[in-house]
Amino acid sequence: MCRNTLQFLTADTVQEVLIFNSLPTNTRMNKDMKNVSHSFHMAEQILTEFDLHREELEELMHRLQQEMEKGLRLESHEDASVKMLPTYVRSTPDGSEVGDFLALDLGGTNFRVMLAKVGEDDHGRWKVDTNHQMYSIHEDIMTGTAEMLFDYIAECISDFLDRHSMKHKKLPLGFTFSFPVRHEDIDKGILLNWTKGFKASGAEGNNIVGLLRDAIKRRGDFEMDVVAMVNDTVATMISCYYEDHRCEVGMIVGTGCNACYMEEMENVELVEGEEGRMCINTEWGAFGDTGELEDFRLEYDRVVDENSLNPGQQLYEKIIGGKYLGELVRLVLLKLVNENLVFNGEASEMLKTRGSFETRFVSQIESDSGNMKQTYNILTGLGLSASEMDCRIVHMACERVTTRAARMCASGLAAVINRMRENRAEQTLIITVGIDGSVYKLHPSFKHKFHAAVRELTPRCDITFIQSEEGSGRGAALVSAVAYKMSFLIGQ
Ligand code: GLC
Repeated sequence: MCRNTLQFLTADTVQEVLIFNSLPTNTRMNKDMKNVSHSFHMAEQILTEFDLHREELEELMHRLQQEMEKGLRLESHEDASVKMLPTYVRSTPDGSEVGDFLALDLGGTNFRVMLAKVGEDDHGRWKVDTNHQMYSIHEDIMTGTAEMLFDYIAECISDFLDRHSMKHKKLPLGFTFSFPVRHEDIDKGILLNWTKGFKASGAEGNNIVGLLRDAIKRRGDFEMDVVAMVNDTVATMISCYYEDHRCEVGMIVGTGCNACYMEEMENVELVEGEEGRMCINTEWGAFGDTGELEDFRLEYDRVVDENSLNPGQQLYEKIIGGKYLGELVRLVLLKLVNENLVFNGEASEMLKTRGSFETRFVSQIESDSGNMKQTYNILTGLGLSASEMDCRIVHMACERVTTRAARMCASGLAAVINRMRENRAEQTLIITVGIDGSVYKLHPSFKHKFHAAVRELTPRCDITFIQSEEGSGRGAALVSAVAYKMSFLIGQ
C-alpha cells in the first residue's frame, strides 16, 4: 500500500519534520494537508499545458483538412505532410470468391499469420472464420535488413502451414502491411518510409509484395498467390463494412495512429477515372511534419521525437500512438521530480531509463479505482517509493497525457468526417467508423473522451463507432476474396 501521510511530506529539511512532530495532531494534519495539496496543485498547474480547448481542436481540424486537400491534389502532393495514398480499394465490390485464404498482418511488434475461410452464412451474408498464429518480431529483425525481415516472415508462414498441414496448397494471400505504401495497384506498392520503430534497410522505395514473393521463392518449400496488400486501417474498414454497409471510415489507435475513408474518385488526382469512390489511406500520423503542429507540441513531444528512430517524422502520431504515450508520461514524471513535486524529488534509475514506463502502465494506472494499489505496485516495480499523493499525481499525469491524445485524435477524425459530409453535400451524414487498436480498446476512458470530442466537432453528422474484431486479418482476407474474383473476371 501507499505510504501514510507523514511519509509524503515534502520534508526538505529535517527541521520541518521535527517541528511537525512536536505539533498537536490537528495542526499537524492541517499543515500536512496543505503541503500535499500544494504539490498536487503545482503539478496540476504544470499539466495544464496538455489541455486542448474546443477552438484549438477546430484549428487543428482545419489545418489537417488543408493538408488532406494538398495531399489529394497532383501539384501539391509532394509537399503535403498528409500523403492521402490511394489504395485501389473501390466502392463497388461485385461479389467475392469463397474458400480458404491466407492473411498476413505486419505492423506492430507481432506478426500474425491467419487462415480465413470466406463463405456465406444461412442468410447469404458473407462470413469469415479465422484461425491464427502470432509470431513476435524481435528488434534486431525490425531494424536489420529487408531480406532478414522477409525471410523471417516466410519462415513464419512455413511454420504455420506445417501446423495446419497445408504446405501443398497454393492459397491466395492477402497482406495487411501497416505502413505508408504508394500503390500502383491493389497488389503492388512501394514503401515510402518505415514508421513505429521499424527500420529494416533496403525496403523503403521498394515493392513490398515483390520482397515477399522473393522471400517465399528463396525458401522454396511452399507457394502462395499474393493477391492484395492493404493498410490496417483499410482492413479494419472492410471487415466492419460487411457488418454495416455504412462503414466508410477505418481507424487505428494502437502502436501508431491512422485513418482511411472513401473519397470521391473525382478528387483523387493521383489515379485516373472520375467514377465512384476509392479508399484513401490518409497516413495522418505524419500531420505536423511540415510544421503544422509547432505551436501545439510541448517539450516532452520534442524529446520523444529526438530520441526516436525517425526524428521529424510522424509528429501527430507521436502525440497519440501507444508507442509513445508511456514515454511521454515518463518524461512528464521526470519534470515533476525536477520540480520536487513527486517521489521526494528523486527519480529511480529505472524511471531515468528510456522506454521503462510502458504504455500499458498508463492504462492500468488510469483503471485504478480509489485505493491506488495498482499504481503503487507499478511505481514500486519501477524502483520508486511512492506516497499516496505521488500516486494521485502520477494518475493525473497519465490522465492529462491520454486526454490530450484522445482530443487530438478526435480533431483528426472530425476533419475526415466533415470533409465527407461536404463532399456528399448531405444535410446529415450518417456514417459508421470501424476502429481497432490497443489504445482505443484497452484504455479505460480514451474511447469515451474521443467519441465525445468527435461528436462536438461534427454537427449534422450521425456517427456510429464499431470496434473491429480481428479486423486486420479478416479485412485482408475479404479484400483478397474480392481481388481474386476480379482477377478471374479480368482474365476471362
Ligand atoms: C502508422 C503507419 C500506418 C498505420 C498506423 C497504424 O501510422 O504509418 O500505415 O496505419 O501506424 O498501425
